[in-house]
Amino acid sequence: MRSLVILISGRGSNLQALLEANLPVDKITVISNNPQAEGLAIARQYHVDTLVINHRDYPDRESFDTALAEKIDACQPKLVALAGFMRILSDAFVAHYTERLINVHPSLLPAFTGLNTHARALQEGIKIHGCTVHFVTSQLDHGPIVIQAAVPILADDNEETLAARVLQQEHRIYPQAIRWFMQGQLELTGNLVKVHQANTRDIALHSPGLQE
Ligand code: GAR
Repeated sequence: MRSLVILISGRGSNLQALLEANLPVDKITVISNNPQAEGLAIARQYHVDTLVINHRDYPDRESFDTALAEKIDACQPKLVALAGFMRILSDAFVAHYTERLINVHPSLLPAFTGLNTHARALQEGIKIHGCTVHFVTSQLDHGPIVIQAAVPILADDNEETLAARVLQQEHRIYPQAIRWFMQGQLELTGNLVKVHQANTRDIALHSPGLQE
């Protein structure tokens, strides 16, 4: 059975993009560490099973991660997808899901790991920004890159307008990456991901022009 577990903490717009994408999976379970996450209501709209494991109920990171992994493993997932899951994961957790833990991050990694990526991109004056889907390793916001999408930074951009333009691309590349994974098209060798049976322009870089 191709089971997908999606971890969220908040808004859930990437979750929604994944639920709308009609992915080749048999079962989806959504788990949130935050009982107030708006994404939980989105999941329910799509009649997807939801679970809350509130990190505040656990004394430390390790005990929360252990409880989370127990719930995830009960779903026997082929893949675990972080969709705005704003928790740092312990090394043991990441190791347990080696090569089956994936994340979407709002920058063209390895640039701008961590938080406030759009504000930092604007501050640096870079002209091209974007987003990345990557396998998760123990190094925060690093790991084998599956797909990236670039967006231009415009002269009158602010954090909100830039975030919205990047988010639109996140919603394109995340379902694509998960579809490839589920269809067995991704081959991981060390830090490199090869995508089989896909066009280079689909994999490496969507470069949406201003008109898109
Ligand atoms: C997204 O922009 C995602 O890339 C980011 O959080 C946002 C969640 O939005 N994730 C990270 O920064 C992880 N390092 P969403 O809840 O609407 O999908």
